[in-house]
Amino acid sequence: MSTIGFVGLGAMGSRFARRLLDGNTVCGTNRTPAKAAGLVARGMIWRDTPRQVTGSVDVVFTMVSDDTALRAVHEGPDGILAGLRPGHVMVDMSTVGPSTAAELADRVESRGAHMVSAPVSGSVPAAAEGSLVILAGGPFGAVTAIKPLLYRLGRQVAYVGTRTQALTLKLAMNVALANQVLAFSEALMLAEKAGIDPAQAASVMTDSPIGSPALQTRAPMALHLPHREWFDMRAMRKDLRLARETAAGLGMQMATAAVASEAVDMAVDHGYADRDLAGLYAALHGRIPATDGPVRSRR
Ligand SMILES: NC(=O)c1ccc[n+]([C@@H]2O[C@H](COP(=O)([O-])OP(=O)(O)OC[C@H]3O[C@@H](n4cnc5c(N)ncnc54)[C@H](OP(=O)(O)O)[C@@H]3O)[C@@H](O)[C@H]2O)c1
Repeated sequence: MSTIGFVGLGAMGSRFARRLLDGNTVCGTNRTPAKAAGLVARGMIWRDTPRQVTGSVDVVFTMVSDDTALRAVHEGPDGILAGLRPGHVMVDMSTVGPSTAAELADRVESRGAHMVSAPVSGSVPAAAEGSLVILAGGPFGAVTAIKPLLYRLGRQVAYVGTRTQALTLKLAMNVALANQVLAFSEALMLAEKAGIDPAQAASVMTDSPIGSPALQTRAPMALHLPHREWFDMRAMRKDLRLARETAAGLGMQMATAAVASEAVDMAVDHGYADRDLAGLYAALHGRIPATDGPVRSRR
């Protein structure tokens, strides 16, 4: 049994914290306290600030939206950095830019603590059931020490190498994911324009060799877009931007990332920022995101 800190209890972080509560003591905080009520009812110890979380544990997990959020929970008098002691292990599971993680790691290590980047592949259902693929990077000893905790969250924990390598692999995987969903959405549209029932086309495609697990879960969502997203367009837009910046830094152009960015930008412009990536299909159709259920035609 360990005492663990958790900062960032959103869609993913709340599910991580819930799994970690099984067999451990968890102290947590979130910018919006109300979102933690369910976890507190299940035994999580509420702390008012990231600094207070850090002060009472040896391992602190963070799972926040983006680079700005990660800085916000680390910096300032109430931030994680202010509460760090030598030997602390920080585990950031957010998808952020490798350069932000590197800059933060320098500050963590200057205090004698360790930082692991452990971004994840898999969405909200995988987070709830502990079947994520976790890409770990950072000091090998620190990663080894927290592996039992990571295995509460994921079915695979891959030690990728450095923090930058772990985050780069995560961004690369999201370029592939965005392109899969985009290509599937266009293929479905083509079938539909040819008079084929889209439900049948989706079923045939996902049951064929092109039916990856990601498409199998998102095809029903494309046809019947839920109001609650798993992974929204805003987050995918962030990841595609970070992937392109990372590629440019390595002297590489990613043509497919550029195409996917264009499609995701279009979807965001048409009101899909808070909808799941599966909304690409409806956005390509020029449909309006409405409430729960099928989207309405804009024309
Ligand atoms: N959802 C997925 O399917 C998925 C899959 C793989 C990876 N990821 C990555 O996981 C991370 C979290 O995603 P999520 O889906 O859990 O997002 P989310 O539900 O929007 O949660 C974001 C969390 O970040 C906090 N936050 C945002 N801005 C902040 C700020 N300025 N200061 C302090 N806290 C701030 C939020 O606090 P509030 O509650 O106060 O807003 C919330 O706790 C992202 O990097 C995402 O790219 C997501």
